[in-house]
Order: sequence, then C-alpha cells, then structure tokens
Amino acid sequence: MSLTAKIETPSITYEQPLGLYIDGKWVKSVEGKTFETINPTNEKPIISVQEAGPEDVDIAVKAARKAFNGVWAKTDPSTRGVMLSKLADLFDEHVDTLAAIESLDNGKALSMAKVDVGLASGCLRYYAGWADKIHGKVIDTDHETFNYTRHEPVGVCGQIIPWNFPILMWAWKIGPALATGNTVVLKTAEQTPLSALYAATLCEKAGIPAGVVNIISGFGKTAGAAIASHMDVDKVAFTGSTITGRTILQAAAKSNLKKVTLELGGKSPNIVFNDANIEDAISWVNFGIFFNHGQCCCAGSRIYVQSGIYDKFIEAFKARTAKNVVGDPFAADTFQGPQVSKLQYDRIMGYIQSGKESGAKVETGGERHGTEGYFIQPTIFSGVSEDMKIMQEEIFGPVCTISKFETEDEVIKRGNETTYGLAAALHTTDLNTAIRVSNSLKAGTVWVNCYNMLSYQVPFGGFKESGIGRELGKYALANYTQVKSVRIRLGGALFG
Ligand code: NAI
Ligand code: MG
Repeated sequence: MSLTAKIETPSITYEQPLGLYIDGKWVKSVEGKTFETINPTNEKPIISVQEAGPEDVDIAVKAARKAFNGVWAKTDPSTRGVMLSKLADLFDEHVDTLAAIESLDNGKALSMAKVDVGLASGCLRYYAGWADKIHGKVIDTDHETFNYTRHEPVGVCGQIIPWNFPILMWAWKIGPALATGNTVVLKTAEQTPLSALYAATLCEKAGIPAGVVNIISGFGKTAGAAIASHMDVDKVAFTGSTITGRTILQAAAKSNLKKVTLELGGKSPNIVFNDANIEDAISWVNFGIFFNHGQCCCAGSRIYVQSGIYDKFIEAFKARTAKNVVGDPFAADTFQGPQVSKLQYDRIMGYIQSGKESGAKVETGGERHGTEGYFIQPTIFSGVSEDMKIMQEEIFGPVCTISKFETEDEVIKRGNETTYGLAAALHTTDLNTAIRVSNSLKAGTVWVNCYNMLSYQVPFGGFKESGIGRELGKYALANYTQVKSVRIRLGGALFG
C-alpha cells in the first residue's frame, strides 16, 4: 500500500499522506493495520490510513525523547519561534487544501473550515511570538544566596485530540508545546485523521527537526491508551469527552504520574434577559448552539429566556433557525453540514427521542434531514424541566432546550446546576447585570452579548468536571513548562 494517495474533493485535488509521521519519516504501522475514514456527507469511505498500535506509540515516544534531549534542546528559543512562524505562514498558504480536507473528513462547511485554518495559523503565530519570551525570575532572599527560576519544558508530550475541530485542536496543542521547547506525539481522532497528516508535511517544510512533531492515526482504546499509560511520556494534553478524560487521568496515576491537562465537555447556559437587544441575542443564541452542528464543547445548549420576552423570543428564534442552511459542506451558503459519524448521529437521535418521550415539546426540527449522510435538523425543545436527560447531559449535536425564568437569582442557580463548567453567556444591556451575573456563573468562560468568541490570546478551559488547566493565551504556557529553582550559595559553609 502506498503511503500517499491523490484525493479529489469538490473544491480541490491534492496529495494525501496516509502513513504515520514518526521521526521525520512516513512509515507503516508495525502490525500493518489500517483503518478507513468516512465522509459523513455521503457515508462512504474516503481512504484508509495507517493505524498505530502500542508498538508504534513506543517508537514515536523514543523519537520524541531523542529529539527532546538532542536537536531540540540545542535549538535556540528564537529559532523555535521562527519555525513556528513559518509553519503559520504555510497554514495560510495551504488554507484551501486544509479547509477542503476538514470539510471532506469532518463534514463542516468549507467557509467555516477556512475560518478554523485561519484561527489555527493565528494560534501558531501567537505562540511563535512567545518562544523567546519564556523566562524565570531572580529572587532575593539574603545576601549570601543567589536564587533564580528557570521555566523548563516538561519533555515528551502526548497530545490526544478530538474530531470536532481537527486542525484547530492540532494548532492549540502543537503551538504552546513547541514554543516552550517540548516534543510531541499527537494522536488524531479516528473519525478525522486526514488534515493532521497533511499538516505534518508543513512541519517538514517549516524546517522543524525530525522527531520534534510525531503524528499518528489510531483508536483511543489502543493508541490513545498507550500514550496515556506510557512510562516515558511526561505529560498528556487531552480534549474530548469527560469519561475518556477520567480514564486518562487514571492511566497517568497508575503509570508515571505524568502531568495531565484536560479540556472536556459542557452543558453551557445561555441566558437572555428582558432588556437584551433581542435581534442580536437571537443571532448569538442561534450561533451559540448550531455553529459546527452543535459539536462544540462550549455549545450554548441550555437557553434561558426571561418571562417578559419569552413568547416573542421563541417565535423569532424559530424563524432565525429556519434560515440556517443545512446541506453539502462544499456549497457556498451551507451553515450546517452532517454530524461527524454514524455513532454521533445515533447518539443525538437517541437524545431527541428521549426528549420527546419525557414530554418536552419540539418547537422545530426533531428529525433526520434528508436521506443520505448524517444530517440532523436544527432542533429546539421547550417545555423542559431540569431533571430531563436532555437538560442534564451533553448532546453534542444541533439540539437545544429553551426554558423560561423570572429572576436573576433563579437563573444563576439554574444555570449553575450542572456538573460541567466550561462556558456560559448572558445577554443584557445593563452593565451591572452583566458584571453581577458573569461573576456568579461557575464557568471558565463567560460571554456577554456574544457567543463562541474564542481568541488564541484569551485562556479557555473548564471549571468543575469540564477540565483541568487552561489552553490558549499566556496561561497555556504553564501547562508546558515546569519551574526549576536554582539556589547558589555565595557565602561559605554554614555548619562547620
Ligand atoms: P472521546 O473522548 O472518546 O474521543 C476523543 C479522543 O480521545 C479521540 O482521539 C479518541 O481516539 C481518544 N480516546 C478515546 N478513548 C481513549 C482512551 N481510553 N485513552 C486515550 N484516548 C482515548 O470522544 P468521542 O467518543 O469521539 O465522542 C463522545 C462524546 O464526547 C461526544 O458526544 C461529546 O459529548 C464528547 N466530545 C467532546 C469534545 C470536546 O471538544 N470537549 C470533542 C469530542 C467529543
Ligand atoms: Mg471522517
């Protein structure tokens, strides 16, 4: 089997790498296994890629260790920055290809995929800027000691990413890790392996030395688990479900106590007060839940609307939702493509069924869209109660619930009644309400009069069971460095 293939997408034709990218080479898996990735728009296989198993993980970790101790340790911080910056430029140059791969493999609209690639290059460039600005402190204790701290890289980082933003999560993980001098073994999600492999070719072009970035395709229970329990992986950064996050934390605890950062799920409240600018609020609420087909960890899936505007809001929100174009990701006006996989489609349809059975009212949607591909109609439930499954569990699809509330205190309490704490939002024109409610919501990000507005400069991560650690911004650097204190005695012996 060749390790590349020509792939035709509706927008471009390109050369797709299929191998495992280990130590700067494209290789087959030791066991010779491959797996198919599916096009969720037509449910047909796109191509097969090499499937990494534990032995391949081990080879990749050895390559990453060798690079960490060798070539990467000898590369100046500013040179690391130049390479990351070059990589960012290459992402921009290859935006059409990377975006087409995302749309083909994940099903997201091409226009949205281009935004993802732009945010990925922005993230890489942002961390390129940090590479030569990472330093410790001098700490005065007494006149006989000179103390300083060094912010050293953690070492070999295992990075396990999900399928909802494949190329963006690649950049969120690789950017800060490389800027701080780590090497990585990154495993993609089995649903969407293609764009990460293409991005590996750009690492080569950017001059990043062999072994610094290793990209493998494979499944969670085999390759993912092998990373999480590996004795020579110093850190794991994971984005995905809370249940898998727990498994990874356990694997770390049972192996070498590697550092773990987790970016997990959510069930985020999106609150609209009587005094909100209603047109803007509806636009943001719609974007908050239906963007990326609801496959966002921070999706605003629990909508709370104050009683004074509730009836008007529901009607206008339904009308706005009806304008979301669902269909072929490569069509220019498409907003919502298919869900990523049959499994996700079935899970979401199961939640819709559960909502119906528990007596919630379907305001709009509630069915499959079309007859081919994993498309689901944008769905709004009303008449819900807090104990319903659709109010408690992350659905990760184009499905939201809408509830009426009376007072600020009531909505803060209801908004916080979840084990998650990734994001929250509120819409109001009163500054005091905005600040009071933002301060009271237990979430890592609170949006006021907007939704899903992420920036690579602003930290992102979860309270409660939504995660450990922060990604993006300066805060993410702490996940990838460890502080060493050096104490130099200037005086003589103390104890004779
Ligand atoms: P998942 O958490 O199982 O998969 C995410 C990544 O973890 C993939 O790369 C997978 O191969 C890997 N993985 C799975 N099991 C592993 C293990 N035992 N050890 C190490 N790595 C492992 O999520 P899945 O099954 O794809 O989706 C299920 C639900 O998870 C979704 O319905 C959604 O609720 C949530 N999810 C949340 C995401 C987020 O952005 N926070 C992204 C993807 C899924
Ligand atoms: Mg796919």
